[in-house]
Amino acid sequence: MKEKLKLGVLGSGKGSNFVAIADAIAAGQLDAEIVLVASDLPGAGILEEARTRNLPTWTCPPSTFKTKLEPEIEAELASKLQQAGSQIVVLAGFMRVIKQPLLDAFPKRIVNIHPSLLPAFKGLEAWKQALESGASESGCTVHWVTAELDSGGILAQERVAVEIGDSPETLHARIQVAEHRIFPAVLQKFATGEWKAGE
Ligand code: GRF
Repeated sequence: MKEKLKLGVLGSGKGSNFVAIADAIAAGQLDAEIVLVASDLPGAGILEEARTRNLPTWTCPPSTFKTKLEPEIEAELASKLQQAGSQIVVLAGFMRVIKQPLLDAFPKRIVNIHPSLLPAFKGLEAWKQALESGASESGCTVHWVTAELDSGGILAQERVAVEIGDSPETLHARIQVAEHRIFPAVLQKFATGEWKAGE
């Protein structure tokens, strides 16, 4: 039997993208296995979702920074992901900027989902940025993670129209529906070997 693609998933939030990935695996639409779910926040919903599915979890020790990790903590996270056998590291709402320890441990093997049509609206609360700018559409992007925030090569995008009366919450909710479609679909391309990571 063909080896399944081993995914290490990182998140800081409720974990709806993680759930979409886990559900796609369970439904036989994604030939992968999740070998570790890690978070920087002990109370993150993503950890609870992982535990419910009996998946191994790891929580980073407390950091003094808000938007990045201490290099030692990031190095520890990298070795946990390596020990688990991760072939691709999936950033599913991980709210820390990724630096050299993880980038060096997983060269061209880290993917992120961002709630806008990159290169538009990089950074935090991209759905709010889209609304405030008066854009008629936004969407989501799966891209490679590089040292420059939200700037790595684009793997897939889906457009989402901004509707009259949208609030940041309603727009983000519709963008998330699209996220839950494109993220598992991108990972399946790697699982089948159509796309290659690490090259
Ligand atoms: C998503 O909107 C994703 O694009 C962004 O963070 C959010 C994570 O949501 N990077 P969830 O925790 O997967 O529900």
